[in-house]
Amino acid sequence: MAELVLLTAKECLPLREEVLHPGQPSEESIYPHDEDERSTHYGVCQRDKTLGVISMLHEPRGEVGEEMWRLRGLAVLPDQQGKGYGSMLMKTIQAIVGKRGSGLWAQVHMDVAGYCQKHGFVEQGEAFDLKGRGPHVLMTWRPKP
Ligand SMILES: CC(C)(COP(=O)(O)OP(=O)(O)OC[C@H]1O[C@@H](n2cnc3c(N)ncnc32)[C@H](O)[C@@H]1OP(=O)(O)O)[C@@H](O)C(=O)NCCC(=O)NCCS
Repeated sequence: MAELVLLTAKECLPLREEVLHPGQPSEESIYPHDEDERSTHYGVCQRDKTLGVISMLHEPRGEVGEEMWRLRGLAVLPDQQGKGYGSMLMKTIQAIVGKRGSGLWAQVHMDVAGYCQKHGFVEQGEAFDLKGRGPHVLMTWRPKP
């Protein structure tokens, strides 16, 4: 059975590299705020194999007010997608952030905006090109009052 585990930022790197930044220099998978003591990283693991990861970075985004935490590095191994692991990871950080009365923000590739919408995220503003990685959009999530 797959289990939810707490990971270090370093333990997230192999999946980030494979799923999110394939063929790019490994530094692309190291994010600012990864090592902030308030940032946390979670994984779905099965028999010591990490199947999916997510990071909740302490990176307040001033102009959207109370969205204090940045969702970054959500990645599930290609052959493990569609089994609910992404949702498990997403719901985990939403539960934590929601209890703190805060919110989340993320820069989301347009291909995944629909997935984030399913999880209650709302698009903010127009799409933009992120460092040649294609169209992205800023999305935010707040817990229901
Ligand atoms: C996006 C991703 C994290 C989803 O994780 P997952 O474990 O495959 O997704 P889940 O099993 O939790 O959810 C599957 C559901 O989401 C839907 N879904 C999956 N990808 C989607 C997308 N890009 N847009 C809209 N819906 C999507 C599926 O159709 C399915 O819907 P259903 O429950 O109604 O059948 C995963 O596909 C992934 O790692 N993709 C590549 C990396 C990436 O884009 N990361 C997101 C960066 S913000």
